[in-house]
Amino acid sequence: MRFEELPTPSYVVDEPLLEKNLKILNGVIERTGCRIILAQKAYALYATYPMIARYLNGTAASGLYEARLGYEEMGKENHVFSPAYREDEIDEIISLCDHIIFNSFSQLEKFGDKVRQAGKQAGLRINPECSTQEGHGMYDPCSPGSRFGVTLEHFRPELLEGVSGLHFHTLCEQGADALAATLDAVEEKFGEWLPQMKWINFGGGHHITKEGYDIELLEDCIKRMQDRYGLLVYLEPGEAIALNAGFLVTTVLDTLKNGMDIAIVDTSASCHMPDVLEVPYTPPLIGSGAAGEKPYTYRLGGPTCLTGDIIGDYSFDRPLKNGDRLVFGDMAIYSMVKNNTFNGMALPAIAIRDKEGNCRIQRAFDYTDFKQRLS
Ligand SMILES: Cc1ncc(COP(=O)(O)O)c(C=O)c1O
Repeated sequence: MRFEELPTPSYVVDEPLLEKNLKILNGVIERTGCRIILAQKAYALYATYPMIARYLNGTAASGLYEARLGYEEMGKENHVFSPAYREDEIDEIISLCDHIIFNSFSQLEKFGDKVRQAGKQAGLRINPECSTQEGHGMYDPCSPGSRFGVTLEHFRPELLEGVSGLHFHTLCEQGADALAATLDAVEEKFGEWLPQMKWINFGGGHHITKEGYDIELLEDCIKRMQDRYGLLVYLEPGEAIALNAGFLVTTVLDTLKNGMDIAIVDTSASCHMPDVLEVPYTPPLIGSGAAGEKPYTYRLGGPTCLTGDIIGDYSFDRPLKNGDRLVFGDMAIYSMVKNNTFNGMALPAIAIRDKEGNCRIQRAFDYTDFKQRLS
């Protein structure tokens, strides 16, 4: 099937674009000897895991289900971090994962022995209290009162026996300069205990595959930890893996006016691209301009009841009409993994485009996907 023939709404992941990102990441692995794993919270289209497995070292999970998915579908290294594990899940998690990262010393005391007895590696998340992003409290694990990671004040070195690595995750869509600043804070606060560790995990939030990212500085940061402390360095980016590698194709259902031109499309910000409202941001729309840039400006909104279900204001060369197809960019990440069926909205199909430009529908959804979760 050609792209133009896909039903709407559909997410489309473009294999060559995905592979382009994977090659960049693999270059970092090859040149430095670090390990990079996929943070499945951002992207978990597991039909593409065989390709990802050719370039990366494994998966990172946020809990039992992602851990199981990584184990079943990637089958390489499988790391997990959760702010707190449940007693009724921890055994299964340990059986599925090789690295189990704890958020507190109390969790480590509770479950650490089980991890070690199973021959798996226990890690501890630290909080270097180094905010490198402004005005982004929602995405800053170092913000005051954050529940993520042990701060120096609460660090208990006497309990570190059996802990093989430290983990931090403090960045969000950031450059290597922010990582370098974070490493300064990590070394200043926790440097004393690094020599006794086997590995350090730099978390995610590294915009490695974005144009202009300073890969050389990233590699210097990795080498710094390798050379000074003999550590194996892990990175677990999500976004960077499928950045700009996917689309969401939609159709205009109606146009109307209320002080401005409005178009209703068959996809919803609230249901199908929740980050547009949560972050918030205006996703790229192929062939369009910013509001007022081209002759015809429209507000694009979804078919739900939510007044704020607005994707954004865009301008076009021609007036929009019913049946026009619009293609949003950068829709592989934090989209499929976060969507929902609020208002009984159908979930978009998931399609994959190969290097010849052929699309195959990997999964289509229907009424049962809505109904089965409700009773
Ligand atoms: C612990 C952890 N690791 C990795 C990631 C992936 O981050 P990103 O998709 O920004 O690279 C996140 C995102 O929230 C995270 O919380």
